Amino acid sequence: MKAVAVFPGKPDSIHLTELEEPSVEEIPDGRGVLVEVLRVGVDGTDKEINDADYGAAPEGYDFLVTGHESFGRVLEVGPNVRDVEPGDYVVATVRRPGGSIYDRVGLSDMTTDETYRERGINLLHGYLAERYVDDAEFIVGVPAALSEVGVLLEPTSIVEKGIEQAYEIQRRLKVWRPARAAVVGAGTLGLLATLALRLRGLDVTTLARTEPPTLNSELVEALGGRYLSTREVPLVEAAERHGPFDIVFEATGASVVAFEAMEALGKNGVLVLTGISSGDREIEVPGDRILLGFVLGNKVAVGSVNANRSYFESGVRDMALAEARYPGWLGRLLTHPVRGLEGYEEMIRLLTEEKSAIKVFVEVAKDAGNGEG
Ligand code: BGC
Ligand code: ZN
Repeated sequence: MKAVAVFPGKPDSIHLTELEEPSVEEIPDGRGVLVEVLRVGVDGTDKEINDADYGAAPEGYDFLVTGHESFGRVLEVGPNVRDVEPGDYVVATVRRPGGSIYDRVGLSDMTTDETYRERGINLLHGYLAERYVDDAEFIVGVPAALSEVGVLLEPTSIVEKGIEQAYEIQRRLKVWRPARAAVVGAGTLGLLATLALRLRGLDVTTLARTEPPTLNSELVEALGGRYLSTREVPLVEAAERHGPFDIVFEATGASVVAFEAMEALGKNGVLVLTGISSGDREIEVPGDRILLGFVLGNKVAVGSVNANRSYFESGVRDMALAEARYPGWLGRLLTHPVRGLEGYEEMIRLLTEEKSAIKVFVEVAKDAGNGEG
């Protein structure tokens, strides 16, 4: 079958390849789930993998099949699979357990292992293929009502983890009642974070560089959020006007912004850092001022990567809530479809050049089962 792959370490090596057919028998204990891939979303990680900043091939291969944001339909299940059945819509998680104690209790997203295996990213083939197979443990059911937007579940899971980490940490405060949040970055993650925080009832200010109006600013406002361009209102000033911020969600990956966010964070606040970059820029920051504010304000900053199954499940609930409260909003994030696996060049071009793109995704197959009920 066809798949899209790169030669890790070789810049701009994206190509179409042939991969052996997966089968449920590959998975032990009758727990295999064979899935027909319908859509795969792509993000900065895929671009960086094609730039050879990132990524490794599975053992025995010189190529890595990319794509970690999956959405598909179950074709076949092994005899010991209970949770999903043929015809169900599903999304697969990304990271697979390693050897640390966290991995052993289902928290592979918290692994302390040096190397970890992530489908489509590191040491495991991803989902930009016609079909894939995996253990039912890593397959999450998506209700048919979310089938049009299900490809957004993986990025949503990243946001869910970050926010749940924040709430978990803030149990230290006994009476934490977050009222105001800032989200920095208005790409897919920033927009989904704005959504998740609005669903939790917070007053949300979302900041990005571009001046409004843009689709991104409209999407923030459609949620009842406030969009600000950092060119007009820098983050620290936004905190004076619209804060104090109980939560700041950083989704740009610019280290300068992360330190500004530390300063903009309110007393007893929590800063969630989810953005990363493969650069190694050195920056100057007002260190003493940030330190003073952090200590005297009892502030917390937490880094958050990846997401385990439970965050995909929270993501499904929030996406369903979003469809009820803000109908059609999630679908508006799906700005740039690419036709078929053969469209991989267009996919990379959109990721690199199309500044107006929110989510670029590949329509791997038409949803033939749709309408059968
Ligand atoms: C993925 C995460 C992954 C991270 C680091 C992100 O793009 O969404 O699942 O853990 O990259 O590889
Ligand atoms: Zn990603």
